[in-house]
Amino acid sequence: MANFIDDIPEARRETLLARDEPTQKASTAGVIPWVLMAFAVLGIGAAGLWWISTSGPTASITPGPGTSAATDASAAAEPETTAVPPAESDTTPPDNTAVANAAASSAAISAQSAQSNELLGHRPYAVADENGLTTLSTNPMVRLKPEVAQKVETMMAEARAVGVSLDAISGFRSLEDQQYLFFDLKAERGQTTQTRAEVSAPPGYSEHHTGYAVDFIDLSQPATELNAAFEDTPAFRWLEKNAAYYGFELSFPKDNEQNVTYEPWHWRYVGNQESLEMFYQNAN
Ligand code: DAL
Ligand code: ZN
Repeated sequence: MANFIDDIPEARRETLLARDEPTQKASTAGVIPWVLMAFAVLGIGAAGLWWISTSGPTASITPGPGTSAATDASAAAEPETTAVPPAESDTTPPDNTAVANAAASSAAISAQSAQSNELLGHRPYAVADENGLTTLSTNPMVRLKPEVAQKVETMMAEARAVGVSLDAISGFRSLEDQQYLFFDLKAERGQTTQTRAEVSAPPGYSEHHTGYAVDFIDLSQPATELNAAFEDTPAFRWLEKNAAYYGFELSFPKDNEQNVTYEPWHWRYVGNQESLEMFYQNAN
């Protein structure tokens, strides 16, 4: 018997033992009739137990694969299902991990923002000494660092030599100038802080404070002044091709990382050490 049991798979032994038990009791019942009766009753009970024990494991094994398959199917669908309702997401470990990751990511962004000292996407700039600025010969209202003013004068001359009406409309701006442009115009137009910041820098955060930034226009197309349509002018096309030769670059191209609105007219000078460090030292 022991060998027989040992020769069958472990999972099947209980079933076979239970089936064996009634056979042993039936052989004893042949000696005394009343005992036989008692054993008959017990036999029926045992047979019942045997039936339960034989159908028990089957019942637990048979649905197994089905249940397992169903579980696998649920598991496969789980990412989609748990991604939709937030209540479920909050109760499952993977989604708790996702929440923790999102919090860590948010903290990293805040830390980066604090490190760069940006305000609404604009970087802080020291205001240039107004005594060290030069006015443009074409427009005395435009003041720039002498090196920049000289480059802009050359650019305008070169552009005009090929029939392009390039001119400059704005250079250095004081804190008071920027105060008006940010706060006063924001109030006048009823704009939110965020909306205003997309098109204008708060005082202390404008590239124009440095004396290295210039707003260009195309005199032949006044309607494009300080708006996105400037990108369709001959002046902009000339800048695109030539500005880098004079040390200029576009400050706020489309989809810039500072989230400032595209400004095709606003260019900054990065042609010397001071300006390069000014614009790139604290950039992200
Ligand atoms: N116009 C850009 C945003 C500046 O003032 O820096
Ligand atoms: Zn500008």
